[in-house]
Parts: sequence; C-alpha cells; structure tokens
Amino acid sequence: MKILNVVGARPNFMKMAPIIEKMKKHPGINSILVHTGQHYDENMSKQFFDELNLPKPDIYLGVGSASHAQQTARIMVEFEKILLKEKPDLTLVVGDVNSTIACALVSVKLEVPVAHVEAGLRSFDRGMPEEINRILTDAISDYLFITEESARVNLIKEGVSAQKIFFVGNVMIDTLLKHKKQANDSQILKRLNVEANDFALLTLHRPSNVDNRKALENILEAMFEIQKHIKIICPLHPRTKKRIDELALLDRFELLKRGNCCFIEPQGYLDFLKLMSEARVVLTDSGGIQEETTVLGVPCITLRENTERPVTVSEGTNVIVGTSKAKITAAVLAAVNKNNLSMKKAPEKWDGRAAQRIVEILNKNFLQIGK
Ligand code: UD1
Repeated sequence: MKILNVVGARPNFMKMAPIIEKMKKHPGINSILVHTGQHYDENMSKQFFDELNLPKPDIYLGVGSASHAQQTARIMVEFEKILLKEKPDLTLVVGDVNSTIACALVSVKLEVPVAHVEAGLRSFDRGMPEEINRILTDAISDYLFITEESARVNLIKEGVSAQKIFFVGNVMIDTLLKHKKQANDSQILKRLNVEANDFALLTLHRPSNVDNRKALENILEAMFEIQKHIKIICPLHPRTKKRIDELALLDRFELLKRGNCCFIEPQGYLDFLKLMSEARVVLTDSGGIQEETTVLGVPCITLRENTERPVTVSEGTNVIVGTSKAKITAAVLAAVNKNNLSMKKAPEKWDGRAAQRIVEILNKNFLQIGK
C-alpha cells in the first residue's frame, strides 16, 4: 500500500510524526512524506523535523506564504504533479491548514482516496479559515479519523456515513507522551531566568485576534494588567510580529517589553513542551495547545469565542474567555490564585496509541477491499 502523507504547517508536524513512525515499521506500507512548504522558517519547520525524528521529506513543494487563494492554488498545482507521478493508493492529510484541503481536493479529483486525521472538529464559526478547511476536507474524505466523540456527532449531522468514521484518539498526544520525559531536561527555564510555576505562557496567531486592531489591542491591554501579577512569556508567531508593526501597536508592545513580559522567538517542540508543562497558566488561541494543556493538567485560558475541541472544556482544563480585556484578566488571575487544580483523567483514547490504531485500520481495509 503506497501512501502519500502530507504536512505543511507547524501543527502538522507533531501530528504526522507518530503516523510515519508506525507506517515505517509496517511491512505492507510504503509511506512517502510530502512537505508543501507552507511553513518554511527554520524554527517553524526544520527544527520540528529534527526534534521529532521525522524523516527528511521525500518531496518538498516549496510553496511558501501568499494569500489564501494563491497558497492553496500553488499547493494544488504542485501536488497534482506528484500524484500523477507517484500514483499512490491513498493520500493522508492531518489537521485543518490550507495544505490539508489543497491536497485532499487534488486527490479526490484524481480518484485517490483520502484519509483525514483529526476529522469532524467544528467551531461553528465560518469566519475561521480552518473551519472552512475542516468542513470541505471532511466532505470529500474516505477515512475520517476522529479525536473525540463530538466529532462523530458533527460528521453524522453533515451526512457522512458512519462506516467512514473511526474514533482513534489523538496523534498529537501520542507525540506529547513520547517526548515528555525528554522535554523535562530542557534548559529553557534557566535560559529565560524563570522558575517553574511562576510564569504565564501566551501564544497568539489567529487572524481574528491579530489581524484585527481592536482584538489585538484588547489582548495587549490585558497583558499589561496580568504582567503586574505574574511574568508573561510569549513566543511570537511571525504573523503576530508582522501585525503589531502594521497595526501601529509597537508602542504598547515596547511598553510590555520594558515591563514583566518576555517576548521570544517561536520555540522548538521540546522547549515549548517544557514551557507549557511548567507554566502556572497558559493563554492561547491555538487549537492544539488546548489539547496539550488538558493532558498536562495545566490551566488553559482560550482567547477565542468558541472551540472546536469541546472535550478540553468538559473533561480538561480549558476555559473559553474571548478577547475582552476584563474577562481575560479575571480568568487569568483566578487561575493564578487557585492552588490545586482538580486533575482529571485524559480524554478517552488520548493514550499514546492513536497512530497505531490508524495504521491498523488502513491496513485492514486495504487488505479487505484492495483500496
Ligand atoms: C497557519 C494555519 C493555521 C495554523 C498555523 C500555525 C492556515 C489557513 N492557517 O496559520 O491553521 O494554526 O499555521 O502556525 O493554513 N510566516 C513566516 N515563516 C513561516 C511561515 C509563515 O514568516 O515559516 C509568516 C508569513 O509572513 C505568512 C504568515 O506568517 O504570510 C502567515 O503564515 P500562513 O501559513 O499563511 O498562516 P499562519 O498564520 O501561520
């Protein structure tokens, strides 16, 4: 069985690593790794390949940054050439980035079946580019591998046949559990001169937060309040860095820098995992971080109006607060002042074996139906 596995942007790498590892060990699978090049900076891409032991991509499309239409179109044009040459039995895509929908769409048009890992998640906010990518990818996929039961409900409502849906758990958590011990040795706290449990960690990159002046201003103002109580460590995503400048918010940013906020470059996987594990509280608009903090048992304040990952709220440590300055500040201070967080178990099947389940299902179905 020949499988083209697609990655493009940072959150794809930790999802793909355990899948490739299991496929490489399977005698019946010839796995090929395609990197679209949506993310290309050393610290947004290569460093993750090194730390996660991902093999060098077999094929690199080098599409880079552009508008949504241009980026998606470039990926499609380049990926079609690869599909025609390689003629795989399956394309496997992960997550919800532009590379996910672009490669899924090219595949189905060439009658190559598609497996979507992390299917069925819905924020019900069509203003999010990822929501559009998720809905479209799921509609054309043949295998829908889900991380939580809410995804099954969403997919069934959208008319997806129940036979295509497989609850396998969370591949991103496979990676976290595998690297937790190694991350513990990271020297990042020493380098930043902070003590465990004595800082808040903040990440910010969603267009709805950083492309919108009012939202970004609110968040920077909330940071100004929070840093009076606890040090904030903030790895700056390239999009956010650019917008702070373009939206003329550099003066606030400089003020925070002179205060108790430490802005750093995007971190590698192990250092970031260490930061998350040791933070008193995490503030984020990322999807994956909501899941990772749930498994780590670290309080997570989500700076969005919704989440496509409801299990992180019902069973995990996540609280959805939006972007009002007052709500963010209150939620963070409540988390900082709370001493013992009631630790719960990780959500069902977030146990380090999701990739194994995926590979077994693909192999069994391939042998049964020859597809
Ligand atoms: C993308 C994904 C988002 C994911 C995020 C993780 C889509 C629609 N969005 O958003 O779901 O959560 O990745 O980071 O696919 N840039 C660099 N170096 C890089 C990559 C990007 O400088 O290696 C800059 C470029 O100026 C680019 C901007 O960041 O225009 C945004 O990159 P892009 O891939 O378009 O979207 P992200 O915001 O990273």
